Amino acid sequence: MQEAKPPIDEEKHTSWVKKVMAIIAIGEAVVIFVGIQFIPWGRADINLPVKAEPKWDSPTTRETFFRACGNCHSNQTVLPWYDVIAPITWIIKRDIDKGREALNVSEWGLGDNEAGEAADTVRDGSMPPTLYTLFHPSARLSASDKEAFVQGLVATFGAEHKSKKKVSDSIRFFPAQKDNSGTDR
Ligand code: HEC
Repeated sequence: MQEAKPPIDEEKHTSWVKKVMAIIAIGEAVVIFVGIQFIPWGRADINLPVKAEPKWDSPTTRETFFRACGNCHSNQTVLPWYDVIAPITWIIKRDIDKGREALNVSEWGLGDNEAGEAADTVRDGSMPPTLYTLFHPSARLSASDKEAFVQGLVATFGAEHKSKKKVSDSIRFFPAQKDNSGTDR
């Protein structure tokens, strides 16, 4: 039995092409996503050896510090699985590097730090960064945590006032420009 060929359906044809294009695009995205997982940058120095720690005023202060600040201000960084996926790792690594540069409780006494301002940063809510606590709820500080923690930080690190520069509490993907005018570095 012979049937007459139906005329080419123009609309069907374009939607078919669109589908193939979409599949190719998704395929490419998957290949790129999988591919970048093999770029080791950012993973190697997440967890480094501890050289020296400050003399904490109490075990609670230390505990709270490691819970809320430790991932960016110590060498003992413990990241959840979703932080170890590129390109998230790269964004996080930037924060870890900059955070350790400002204050690293695992390399205490080795070089300058801004620990004196720690109490102030917690008091004014700039630390831990809001975007970070959004994705790392265990780092959140309740009002009562905060009060005790600020006291512990003052007892451990002293209380210098943050005046020279302001850290933007906004999105860390686009860190605020540091205002170096009038500072000593
Ligand atoms: C997501 C990573 C991250 C976490 C978590 C974090 N910080 Fe920071 N912190 C940074 C970065 C990045 C800088 C450097 C900011 C800059 O130079 O602009 C910084 C800077 C600082 C400074 C230097 C002064 C200043 O304001 O720049 C202090 C003090 C500080 N943090 C204390 C803390 C304390 C205390 C906690 C916990 C309550 C904490 N941070 C949690 C990333 C973090």
